[in-house]
Amino acid sequence: MNHAKWIAYFERNRLDRLEPDWSAPVSISERTFGLFLKSIEQFRLGDGGGPASLIAFDAERFRSSTEQMRKIVDLWFAEEAEHARLLGCAVERLGGRAINSHWSFTAFCWCRRALGVRFELQVLLLTELVSTAYYRVLRAHSPDIPVAQMCTLILRDEAGHVAFHRDRLADSRQHVKGGSNALWRTQFCVLGLAAATMLWVNHGPCLTAIGGSRVEYFREVRQQLRHFIVSLYQLIKGAKKEFSFARRGNPHVGKGAITGLKST
Ligand SMILES: [Fe+2]
Ligand SMILES: [Fe+2]
Repeated sequence: MNHAKWIAYFERNRLDRLEPDWSAPVSISERTFGLFLKSIEQFRLGDGGGPASLIAFDAERFRSSTEQMRKIVDLWFAEEAEHARLLGCAVERLGGRAINSHWSFTAFCWCRRALGVRFELQVLLLTELVSTAYYRVLRAHSPDIPVAQMCTLILRDEAGHVAFHRDRLADSRQHVKGGSNALWRTQFCVLGLAAATMLWVNHGPCLTAIGGSRVEYFREVRQQLRHFIVSLYQLIKGAKKEFSFARRGNPHVGKGAITGLKST
């Protein structure tokens, strides 16, 4: 994985960020206002409002794999904290409150902490994918323009986070040996749909109230999961081709070049 490329990406992504017009007048119907605000209040906690770091018991193993990786993780979580700030502005604009606990967030943190950093990274990736589906539906139907503008900013960042995970997984190559391919894909999709369902339980009422639907949201989820898996395998295939080409050109390029790659 090209660490320097990711550090440069995150540093560049801090630029040209147009702040939503939080001072614009609010005109949301009474029917949707309560559910809309409740959903944004909860999302502020889940999207960067909690611990802004990896919290698995063995997280240091991943963070300290290289000095550059530590920097990338810090930059990634700084963007998550920025999402909480943006969502906090939306909550304030709508006269809501900053909530600090919710059963789904407690369960989310417990899984991250207890099951090890490899699992935590997968949970965070799946959260980015299902949150992308949420923000896309929210933006499409938002009754409030500044909230739609906020979704655009967050979606831009989440696309970068997902691409980082794709690079990281393609690099580790830990899920791509023979039959383990299908097994990995299956568990990835099952956990992804479980995360999506949990999100829908909490935020479906809001998305429905503003004009979205369960079908629209789950279509987005499936599209995000499918696109991630297809692009991951394309990236791995491309890297394999590059490797065999290098090996043909130089027989001393040994197997260690593949198996020696770091796993998460
Ligand atoms: Fe986020
Ligand atoms: Fe993210």
